[in-house]
Amino acid sequence: MSATVVEIDKLWSVFHSAGMDAVVHQNLSLRIDAGELLSIVGGSGSGKTVLLRQILGLEKPTRGSVTVLGEPAASMGREGAASRVGMLFQHGALFSAFSVLDNIAFPLRELKTLPADLIHDVAMVKLRMVGLDASAAHKMPADLSGGMTKRAALARALVMDPPLLLLDEPTAGLDPGSADEFCALLESLHQELRLTVVMVTHDLDTLLELSTRIAVVADKHIVAEGTAAHVMAQPHPFIKEYFLGERGRRASILLQGTPKSG
Ligand SMILES: Nc1ncnc2c1ncn2[C@@H]1O[C@H](COP(=O)(O)OP(=O)(O)O)[C@@H](O)[C@H]1O
Ligand SMILES: [Mg+2]
Repeated sequence: MSATVVEIDKLWSVFHSAGMDAVVHQNLSLRIDAGELLSIVGGSGSGKTVLLRQILGLEKPTRGSVTVLGEPAASMGREGAASRVGMLFQHGALFSAFSVLDNIAFPLRELKTLPADLIHDVAMVKLRMVGLDASAAHKMPADLSGGMTKRAALARALVMDPPLLLLDEPTAGLDPGSADEFCALLESLHQELRLTVVMVTHDLDTLLELSTRIAVVADKHIVAEGTAAHVMAQPHPFIKEYFLGERGRRASILLQGTPKSG
């Protein structure tokens, strides 16, 4: 039996704004085991990013619990969080005033316990690990392509070797070639580092290529979870629209094998 890395139990996420309560999650439960590459899909505004922020401990459950590696996520603290959970945010991936290498080294410098030469060496190792050339180390974020920016942000997320990696729409905004390359990198890191990965994505190709399991967020909770074939067979309206619409047709062909012509 695999160890449980994330346990979300009857989670409620409620925001209070302008005198109103906005209920984003209501009794949402989800368990993620070690070594999984779980993809989360759901409509825009369905609470996917808030769910990742809950796992990272940046949001607190209004009710229910979020446990990461046996501890409440919200009690990890910033430094604890970086060594347990790496996060690739959807926007604002890098600090624009820092070079690539300084961005990657940032979480290590924050510790204020490691010598500068060690920090430099570790950051260089991570730079290479995500497939960036040494010449990228002293570039500024404004001079990077979208794919390189994502790679540098990934190196920073992994600089403290966390066992759990969270990715929020990692291929959004990348051209198809860069998206494919980033997916191949994720797949190899998932295997080589034995990472547990939780990825929010809209991209059906990414989803089907990489996921060991899929969870669908709708109606403020998880409405389906399991293999792609299992999830696609569920009758929920969001699932029908997402998987069986225009862009889903290719997905079902991929899953069922190419139909014979004639
Ligand atoms: N800090 C916040 N305060 C109030 N509402 C929020 C906050 N963060 C997110 N929300 C709301 O929660 C809902 C889900 O947001 P989000 O998780 O970002 O959706 P998505 O599934 O597109 O990632 C949205 O309606 C959003 O406006
Ligand atoms: Mg989002």
